[in-house]
Amino acid sequence: MGNKPYALIVDDQAGVLEMLSLFFQRAGFDVETAVNGEEALQKVDEAVPDIIILDVMMPGISGFDVCRQLRSKPQTAQLPVIMLSAKGEVGDKVKGFEAGADDYVTKPVARQELLARANALLHRAQYTKAPTAQVIAFVGAKGGVGVTTVAINVAASMIGSGKSVTLVELQAHPGTMIYHLNMVLAQDIGDLLALSPSELNWREVNRRVVQHSSGLRLLTAPQDSAQYSLSSEHAKAIIDALMIRTEYLLLDLPTIAGEVSRQALEEADKIILITEPEMVSVKAAHAKLQTLHDWSLADRTRVVVLSRSPAASLMRREEVQTELGFPPGSEGVIGMIPPAPEAFQQASQMGIPVTVSKPHILSARALAELAEWIIKHTQDI
Ligand SMILES: Nc1ncnc2c1ncn2[C@@H]1O[C@H](COP(=O)(O)OP(=O)(O)O)[C@@H](O)[C@H]1O
Ligand SMILES: [Mg+2]
Repeated sequence: MGNKPYALIVDDQAGVLEMLSLFFQRAGFDVETAVNGEEALQKVDEAVPDIIILDVMMPGISGFDVCRQLRSKPQTAQLPVIMLSAKGEVGDKVKGFEAGADDYVTKPVARQELLARANALLHRAQYTKAPTAQVIAFVGAKGGVGVTTVAINVAASMIGSGKSVTLVELQAHPGTMIYHLNMVLAQDIGDLLALSPSELNWREVNRRVVQHSSGLRLLTAPQDSAQYSLSSEHAKAIIDALMIRTEYLLLDLPTIAGEVSRQALEEADKIILITEPEMVSVKAAHAKLQTLHDWSLADRTRVVVLSRSPAASLMRREEVQTELGFPPGSEGVIGMIPPAPEAFQQASQMGIPVTVSKPHILSARALAELAEWIIKHTQDI
């Protein structure tokens, strides 16, 4: 599950398509097919394959044009492409390579040769593939402390620093991320939770991911009222699938309770525990830290304090740090996010995180610093 290479085979001749698709499946590939250039580009948009076998002569967009379009986009500029054509003239081959093909095979194809060429290309691509993502989990000391706000703003800030980021609201019940971003989405994690974990290969997962205009890749909590359940197997399969094509995978976790959150947190390189600077939240945070300690996850955990409204009674950083049992001067509490109720309300009305819409306010700066801290502490792992 999940680890098979995914080949997209494109040909307008049904016979060729069927023959090659069966052959590649038997050779251990996940295969998807397309009968013309448009369909091919659409399937690539849904989920980028590991390799494309691309016929040249097709009605509509030719294989040459498909290849040129793939090369013009960053996500597919490096994608291995083998062109397949009945045209065996030197000039045609040159045209294929000029369009960006990695290899060119003439019809009638010797299937074994095509497979060997495909495997050679894949093998080489393995070494140039981006390493798998750093996983950062955001979790609350209790409900409503601002987990989604922090996750979205850190994501936006990381994108501003040139990182590729995927953000998942990993829960089975309706969430709030779409409201923070003021979005209407056609798909969400519910589509995946309706499947059994064994069906969750990376293609199924990645085609549910939505691209936000900022460049952020998003998978949000279910929007409908159906009863989904999120098992630890679902959580692991979704995280594993999303880790492949992003530098940072951010998890918005509703809470720490039971096996599902344990599974998700074990996948994380860093855990950011969010609390408010008042006694009830801090006590709840202390209890969560104990659980994380029992799961041997305390070392990778840091605390961020977020205040949502100004109040004289709020605890100071040192008080929170002491109350949580961190030695003075240790790096337990790594961030303090000050309140800015109006700015955050406006941000969700516009669907633009404060780190982007109001980067100069103190809260935005603190969130950007948190993003920097995470980048700095995950680079060389
Ligand atoms: N620093 C802040 N100042 C004022 N309001 C904030 C701040 N951070 C978050 N909020 C607001 O708090 C509310 C709850 O945040 P949310 O991120 O949805 O919490 P959670 O994901 O923990 O349930 C949101 O309406 C958000 O705009
Ligand atoms: Mg939330």
